[in-house]
Amino acid sequence: MTAVPVDSPSAVKPPVVLPEQLHFIGGKFVESVSGSTFPALNPATGETICQVASGDEADIDNAVIAAREALEIGPWSKIDAADRGRLLYRLADLVEQGSADLAALESFNSGKTINDSRSDLMGVVNTLRYYAGWADKIEGRTVPVRGNFLSYTLRQPVGVVGQIIPWNFPLLMLAWKWGPALATGCTVVMKPAEQTPLTALRIAELSVEAGFPDGVINVVNGLGETAGNALVVHPNVDKIAFTGHVDTAKIIQKQAANTLKRTSYELGGKSPNVVFADAEMEQAVAGAFHAIYFHGGQCCTAGSRLFVEERIHKEFVERLAEKAKQRRVGDPLNTSTEQGPQVSEEQLDKILYYIGEGQKQGARLVSGGQRLGKKGYFVEPTIFDFVKDDMKIATDEIFGPVVSVLPFKTVGEVVERANNTSYGLAAAIWTKDLDKAHLFAKHVKAGTVWVNCYHVVDTTTPFGGFKMSGHGRENGEAVLDHYTEVKTVTIKLG
Ligand code: NAI
Ligand code: MG
Repeated sequence: MTAVPVDSPSAVKPPVVLPEQLHFIGGKFVESVSGSTFPALNPATGETICQVASGDEADIDNAVIAAREALEIGPWSKIDAADRGRLLYRLADLVEQGSADLAALESFNSGKTINDSRSDLMGVVNTLRYYAGWADKIEGRTVPVRGNFLSYTLRQPVGVVGQIIPWNFPLLMLAWKWGPALATGCTVVMKPAEQTPLTALRIAELSVEAGFPDGVINVVNGLGETAGNALVVHPNVDKIAFTGHVDTAKIIQKQAANTLKRTSYELGGKSPNVVFADAEMEQAVAGAFHAIYFHGGQCCTAGSRLFVEERIHKEFVERLAEKAKQRRVGDPLNTSTEQGPQVSEEQLDKILYYIGEGQKQGARLVSGGQRLGKKGYFVEPTIFDFVKDDMKIATDEIFGPVVSVLPFKTVGEVVERANNTSYGLAAAIWTKDLDKAHLFAKHVKAGTVWVNCYHVVDTTTPFGGFKMSGHGRENGEAVLDHYTEVKTVTIKLG
């Protein structure tokens, strides 16, 4: 592994950030009603970047009032669908123009490498444009009912939506949530992750420039248990869209029960990545490496259970370990860095705990396994071999650069083992044999299946989980159902 020093001279300059960041409510930046704040940190150093307004019930209530007013009586309530699309196109253009600065801020606050942030920014722009295009293409139907009636359906916005997002793709998750909500005519109260609040506030600023009416978009910062929970229980919020941990989703599901609000969840996974002996070796090694180590493993789709056919297993692990040794870990703002820090001390501790458990339970540590340096939250790319299906490192989402290699013999066996998990977000297979590929794609229980590729996620294709990886789908046309209510209108004909 090559360590890239933090603040190396070849890096992109850290962005200038005002010392106090506020909430964005009703088109204005405002302090917390309580006046309380929390620090935003730079995970590469652990140092404080700035203080951020910390919201609670009162701030959420103000944001919901603004969002409700915008939905029911403001200019947004009367706007043509095509004009909603035009506003989204304008926002996409502004994000594109500002993407160099936004990417630097994203990396500074989240530890994501600058190359990954730049690529996320392209995803943000694509997503906003994709949903801009949908705005005037969401149609109802005329329905051939019995009797002398005309029946038709309208698809109307579900209302005020609360959106709670995590820290691993702060801007991309924002775009995945704002895009369909705004295209369908909803209004938004977003609660960004407390680790990464900064870029959402910049985009909120751009939304004013794009021309979105006041109150259509609101951003309230704060902790999950306070600001997040206040949004979930608020009687005037019609829907919660959540991305994060499965245990948080369980709490939200219970807390949302009193108001029976709509909910959709995109949760984590323990995704199986299956390599057959007939696969193109070089491609499969690179693919398996990318599957787990992309963004330091902080990815809901991370290929963390790597099943390798016994015949090639030894060579495959050797080649994977060789690549791990060459990984450039360090300053996220340096364009030559391949892996930045983990997002927080909490995540660092969680990953080190699981590495310890892997060793205790008898898996073979092939590579990595240590924290890197004393400053910031860096972890070596780690490989465990001969992992058993019931070891903690094979069952739990680690959300770090730790892969569990599990040798297998037959296709039937591996499908069964791949499905032996409560999760079902993604799965992949590497083979030249079409029969195996189709068989696996049909029988694996996952919302996304990749064949000879990994982490290919596009704004046009539905994305979400089977089983405990979530409810509903994001992206593509599929998500529009979650942001609209269908109304049937029946007229008696003379
Ligand atoms: P988390 O699920 O606690 O946080 C995600 C979001 O939910 C944040 O905005 C947080 O403030 C909010 N939140 C937390 N508790 C809440 C509550 N009671 N009510 C409403 N909102 C609440 O995830 P966390 O703690 O940041 O990470 C823990 C683990 O979750 C990670 O190690 C990883 O395994 C998983 N995770 C999965 C993600 C995914 O993409 N599916 C993203 C981030 C984390
Ligand atoms: Mg949490």
